[in-house]
Amino acid sequence: MGADETGSAKQVGVFVAWPYANGDLHLGHVAGAYLPADIFARFHRLRGNNVLMVSGSDAHGTPITLKAKEEKAEAYDIVKRYHGRFLQGWQRLGICFDLFTHTHTPNHISIVQDIFTKLEGQGDLTVATQQQFFDESEQMFLPDRYVHGTCPLCDYDKARGDQCENCGKTFEAKELLNPKSRISNSTPVLKDTDHFFFQMQNYAEPLLSYVGEQEHWRPHVLNFTRAMIEDGLQPRAITRDIDWGIPVPKDGWESKVIYVWFDAVVGYLSASREWAEMRGEESAWKHWWKDEHAESFYFIGKDNIPFHSVIWPIELMAYDKELNLPYDVPANQFLNIDGEKFSTSRGLAVWLLDVLDALDADAIRYYIASILPETKDANFSWEEMVARNNGELVAAWGNLVNRVLGFAHGRYDGRVPQPGELDTRDTDLLERVDDGFARVAEHYTRVRLRDALKEAFSLARDVNKYLDDKAPWSVFKTDPEAAGTTVYVAMRAIDSIKILLSPVLPETCQRIHEWFSYTSPLFGDLEVVRRDVEGDSYDVLKYLPNDDELKALSRWKPSELAPGTPFAKPTPLFKVLDVEMFESA
Ligand code: MF3
Ligand code: ZN
Repeated sequence: MGADETGSAKQVGVFVAWPYANGDLHLGHVAGAYLPADIFARFHRLRGNNVLMVSGSDAHGTPITLKAKEEKAEAYDIVKRYHGRFLQGWQRLGICFDLFTHTHTPNHISIVQDIFTKLEGQGDLTVATQQQFFDESEQMFLPDRYVHGTCPLCDYDKARGDQCENCGKTFEAKELLNPKSRISNSTPVLKDTDHFFFQMQNYAEPLLSYVGEQEHWRPHVLNFTRAMIEDGLQPRAITRDIDWGIPVPKDGWESKVIYVWFDAVVGYLSASREWAEMRGEESAWKHWWKDEHAESFYFIGKDNIPFHSVIWPIELMAYDKELNLPYDVPANQFLNIDGEKFSTSRGLAVWLLDVLDALDADAIRYYIASILPETKDANFSWEEMVARNNGELVAAWGNLVNRVLGFAHGRYDGRVPQPGELDTRDTDLLERVDDGFARVAEHYTRVRLRDALKEAFSLARDVNKYLDDKAPWSVFKTDPEAAGTTVYVAMRAIDSIKILLSPVLPETCQRIHEWFSYTSPLFGDLEVVRRDVEGDSYDVLKYLPNDDELKALSRWKPSELAPGTPFAKPTPLFKVLDVEMFESA
C-alpha cells in the first residue's frame, strides 16, 4: 500500500479539474476539488509515494470569450489575469501542485492537435452538417451560451441556449422561444454549419468493461456513469464556430476551433509532459501514465463527471491503448452558502483571496475539510466556521499542544522529560495513537477525508482526557518525575497526531515539528516560475519536493521522540475568532 509496507513506492497521479480563467476562485471550488486533492496528495507524499499533482487554468470556451466581449478585452489577457490570481490563491492556501499551468501553451495545443489528427485518421471523427444560430448583424455563428430566450419547458424568459437556469432542463438552442443574440440582441437565424463529431459509440464495449471494474468508485459517480452509458453513447460535436481556442489541424477549417471539453481534459496528460520536460527528464511522465501499477485520481465537482468518467476515458482509449485510464474519480457534491448555491454570476460567493486576507490558511483548511461535500451537498456558514474553529481547532488541538509544551518548557528545562516506568494508562494511550496510523491511512487512501480528519481529532481528544485524568499540573508539585512521565507520553502522542493532521493543517503542523527540533521539513515548498516558450511567456506554479520526498522516504509513522530532545516554548497556533468579524461579509 505505501512505501513503508511494501518497501517500494507507488505512483499516485492527483489530477484536479481545470478552472475556467474567467473569474475568481471561491470556496465552492476549494471544497469541490482543490483542497481534497491537496490533502490526498500530501498524505501520499508523507507516505513516501511518488505523487504527481497537476492542473491548470482552462483557457478556452465560451466562458472566456463572453467575459472578453463583456470587457472589450482580448481572451488571452483575461486568461492571464485570472490565471495569475489562481496562482496566488494556491500559494497562499498551500495547494501543492507539482505543476499548475494552462491550456493555451504550445505544449498543450500540439498534444491536443496530435490526438485530433490520430482520431480523425482512424475514423473516430467524422464531419456532419448541423443547424446553428447565426447573428447576421455580427456575421458570426452563435455558440449555445451566446443565445438566450424563453425556456420551452417552463417559460422562464432568461434561459441560456443549452440549459434553463430556472428548471434546470437541457435542450437544443433551436428549441428556445423568442431567441436573441447576446451580442447584438437581434433575432438570430438558423444556418447550416459543418462540424467534426466524435464517434464515441465505437468505444461502448471497452468503456463498459472498464466501468464494470470500478467497484471502488463512489456510488453517485458509478450510477451517473452507468446511466449515461445505458442511455446510449451518441456522436458528439467536438468543433465550434468561434475564434478562440485550439485550431482544428485541417485545411479549410480555419474559422473553427476544437471544443473546449475535448481539449481541456487532455490537460492532465499534457501538463504531466510539461512537468517532465521542465524537470529535464522528458519521459518521466510515463511513470504515472504507462506504469500499470500507477493509480490516477481525478478530483472534480459533480457537474464534471461525464467528461471524466466517459469522454476522457474514450479519448484515452482511442489515442493510445497503453495510457492508464482513471483509477478513481472521487467527484464531490456541491458546497452551498447559507442554503443557496454558490453562483459567480449572482455574486453569491465567498472569494478565496478575500478569505485569505481575513484568516490563516490552516483555519480555512480545517473548516472546509470538516464539511467537505463528499457524499451530499454541504453548507457553508460563518457561524459554523467560527464555532468549529473555536470549539474544535483551538479548544481540542491548539490548546492541547500549547498547554503541554507551555507547561513543560520551564519545568523540564526545555527538554523532553525522561519518563519513569509507564503504567497501562500511558501505554494504552500510546498504543491507541500508534494504531491510529493504520486507521487514518485507510480513510485517506480511500478518499474519505472527512473521516480521516475526524479520526485524527478523536485521538487529540483522547490525549485531552488522558491529561485530565493524570493532571500533571498538580502532580508536579509533589512528584515532578511522575508528571514528567505524563508529559513525555503526551508529547509523543502530540508528535504523532501532528503527522496524521498535517495533510489538512500543513502550516501549523510544520511549526509543531520545528518546536520538537526536527530539521527536515514535513513538506516541500511552492514557487511561481516564469516560462518563456516559443515567444510566449507565462507563469506556472511548481512544487519543490523536500529531500525525504525525493528519496521516497515514508514519514507516516509513530513518533520516536527521545527523552532529552530540546523543544521550543510554544506560541498560539490558532486564533480565536469572533463571528462579528464576518457579519458584513
Ligand atoms: N473548466 C471546467 C469547469 O470549470 C472544468 C474543466 S476540467 C477538465 O467546470 F478536465 F476538463 F479540464
Ligand atoms: Zn425552464
